Formats: sequence, C-alpha cells, structure tokens
Amino acid sequence: MAQKDIGNKRPLHTLENSEEVRDFYDDWSLDNQYNIDMFDWNYTGPKESVDSLKRFAPDRNMLIFDAGCGSGLVGAELTAAGYRNLHGADLSTKLLERVPAGLYQQLQQLDLNRPLGIANRTYDALMCVGTFTYGHVAAHALDEFVRITKPAGLICFTINEGIYESHGFDAKIRQLEECGAWQKEAFFKSEYLASKEVNAWLGLYRVIDHPRSLD
Ligand SMILES: C[S@@+](CC[C@H](N)C(=O)[O-])C[C@H]1O[C@@H](n2cnc3c(N)ncnc32)[C@H](O)[C@@H]1O
Repeated sequence: MAQKDIGNKRPLHTLENSEEVRDFYDDWSLDNQYNIDMFDWNYTGPKESVDSLKRFAPDRNMLIFDAGCGSGLVGAELTAAGYRNLHGADLSTKLLERVPAGLYQQLQQLDLNRPLGIANRTYDALMCVGTFTYGHVAAHALDEFVRITKPAGLICFTINEGIYESHGFDAKIRQLEECGAWQKEAFFKSEYLASKEVNAWLGLYRVIDHPRSLD
C-alpha cells in the first residue's frame, strides 16, 4: 500500500501541534540532513511547482512569497527560473538558517496556521510547497494566502494526496471558487515524492477578488 506519511524519524501524523512540528524540522535540519534526504529521495515538488508557475507568470520581477520555505529548495528553483524578488517564511528557525545567503530578500519565522502579519494584496505570487501535509498547516491558511495576494496574482501549492479530502482541502478550494475569490489555472496529481510512494495534488489558482471585509 502506498505510504503517504513520510518523516525522517517519526510519522508526520503523530505531530500534535506547531511546537512539535518546529522541533521536528529543527532536528531534521541538523548536519544538513533535510537537504540530503530530499536530494536522495528525488523530491520533485519544488521543480514541478516552479515549472507550473512559469507557464502562467512570465514577469520575472514579480514579488513572490514562499510560504513554508524550509531550507530554500523552492527559492533555488525560482532563482534558477529567473525570478529574483523572493520573500520566504517558515516555522523552523533551524531550517531558515540553512537557506543560502541572498536567495530571498526577506526571511521570517512565522506560523502559517495563525493570521499573517502581512498587508492585504502584497504579493504577485505565492508558493506553498510541501507544507500542506499531515500535522502541518491547515486548509484555512488558504484564506490568508488569498488575502495577501494581489488581484490577478497566482497561488501555487501542493497538498499531500492523503489529506486532500480528509482534512478539508477539497472543500476549501471549492468554497474559494464558489465565492469568486479565485479561479483554477491548473490542478493535477504531481510526482512530488514518488520514490517514497507519496504523490501530491498540485494547484495553481489565480486570485480574482477579495472578501468585501477587506475593503
Ligand atoms: C516538507 S517541508 C517543505 C519545505 C520547502 N517548501 C520544500 O519544498 O523543501 C514542510 C515545511 O513546512 C514548514 N511548516 C510546517 N508547519 C508550519 C507552520 N505551521 N507554519 C510555517 N511553516 C510550517 C516546516 O517547517 C517545513 O519547512
């Protein structure tokens, strides 16, 4: 049976709160082990996501927020594709310390499960890769992602296929479509971490409008 719950030392679903998730990734960052494992496991999530963004985002000067940037693997792919205005944020300070100097113009430690201290309509695009998985960030974070993205901006994310329905991501995505907050540009099953039999839904949505409460 497909194993959809991969961690380095313990199954992700056993992580009970943000403190445990932070400690889990702080520990995984030691001796660069997170980056080593992702390379050894042929983790394709960052490249697949950036390849999707490239199809819809020709402006390489756009300001992009990498939500749950970890050690900067998505930032590295964005940079390789020519994007140069990058902000990143993550829960794990130790993973943030692994980010190569200069990759992002701004880095911050934050919890994506909480309201983000970021102004409405700040970003041209937002990436969230590998962070919608067991015990990590909940579907309601998509509301904040829409809020901080400019109208006509793009939101690109992966969702571990094992939690897509059980954790309410299908319902949240549909709700945002039905209320006119965003429209689908692409949505497909990506390889993601195929070597570990973990695939992910990859979504790319364009923000249309914001809830009236923002105005
Ligand atoms: C599988 S890693 C993906 C990291 C990076 N995006 C990549 O593709 O390599 C999941 C990331 O989500 C971060 N994370 C988990 N829960 C979070 C939260 N509540 N707020 C912010 N980041 C969180 C972790 O610290 C970790 O860096």
